Amino acid sequence: MAEISIRDISKTYGKNTIMQGVNLEIRQKEFVVILGPSGCGKSTLLRMIAGLEDITKGEISIDGTVVNALEPRQRGCAMVFQNYALYPHMTVAENIGYALKVAGVPKAARLERVAGVAKSVGLGEFLDRKPGQLSGGQRQRVAMARAIIREPKVFLFDEPLSNLDAKLRVQMRHEIRRIHNQIGATSVFVTHDQHEGMTLADRLVVMNKGTIEQVGTPEEIYERPASVYVAGFIGSPAMNMLPGRVDASRGAVLLDNGQSVPLPAQQARAANGNLVQVGLRPEQLFLASPASAQLTATYVFQEELGSGRVYHLQIEDIPLCVVSTEKRQMTEGDTVGLSFAADAVHLFDAKSGRRVARGTADRVLEVTA
Ligand SMILES: Nc1ncnc2c1ncn2[C@@H]1O[C@H](COP(=O)(O)OP(=O)(O)O)[C@@H](O)[C@H]1O
Ligand SMILES: [Mg+2]
Repeated sequence: MAEISIRDISKTYGKNTIMQGVNLEIRQKEFVVILGPSGCGKSTLLRMIAGLEDITKGEISIDGTVVNALEPRQRGCAMVFQNYALYPHMTVAENIGYALKVAGVPKAARLERVAGVAKSVGLGEFLDRKPGQLSGGQRQRVAMARAIIREPKVFLFDEPLSNLDAKLRVQMRHEIRRIHNQIGATSVFVTHDQHEGMTLADRLVVMNKGTIEQVGTPEEIYERPASVYVAGFIGSPAMNMLPGRVDASRGAVLLDNGQSVPLPAQQARAANGNLVQVGLRPEQLFLASPASAQLTATYVFQEELGSGRVYHLQIEDIPLCVVSTEKRQMTEGDTVGLSFAADAVHLFDAKSGRRVARGTADRVLEVTA
């Protein structure tokens, strides 16, 4: 286990700055997930921790030692990739034990360690097979075992589950988390998949174009996204966004289409006159009769989920989703009423995209979080 400290990291390729001012403290035994779309710099950050990529500016330390100038093998990190390059001519046992063999560990001790690690990842029965005789999930387990046997201080995962089918991905996700807990390692896991990130992480790091947008527990990030970007990235379907302007005299946001969304008085006063985006999560909107509704929308179409439905609506030309366990037959063009709780309203500044605090209550929450 180890602490990782990332201080003011920038990365430049030629004239291209692809990462800037990245700061992150990772605690001992923590499972941190770096989440962001393809190309935002996740792999580069991981590779800088591992020592596979130069650090242009800033400092990374592991357990209090600055590692900028250390070789990868001196850093105590083990990396698990999406493309787990196993040696095809070696058996599972030989693949897992290869690093020990190179390190000169005697055969008997090696075989014992290999058997132990193989058992811990559910490969006990497959030690004599070749990679070609294994399923994708089993091959991924061999890659895990190869990392585990080196007893690294830090596990670095670069989208290791992307090649697996959906069911296996969930299973391996649980397994990775179980192994992490069992060996008490510090893990940094990179993915573009929000479900993977939400379910695995102690803390999530949301990246956007080479910078960190927000760091927090999955719950904090879901409940109080720091920006429109984060709000759109976490949650499925994505949070609905309605543009408008704050009007303190009405204690509400007046939407561009003439409807209004009430705000706490203090928040409305603080942001009076500002252009904003009102965020409402699809699962926090409820279908209501148009007479008692807080908003009205026009029905477009619906998708069956089995457990419920996604209703696709529009307010003027702005699309809006509602997820509900309620099943209603509707016809295109129908008027649909919507209701929501006061604390389901997220407010973002239209220009900066940043979250607007909800008033005293929200600020107290943010300080204690
Ligand atoms: N060796 C390289 N040379 C030049 N640009 C690179 C190199 N590696 C990555 N990049 C660029 O850096 C950015 C981040 O890449 P990467 O870290 O792979 O993103 P992610 O893992 O989030 O998909 C991308 O714009 C990519 O094109
Ligand atoms: Mg990548």
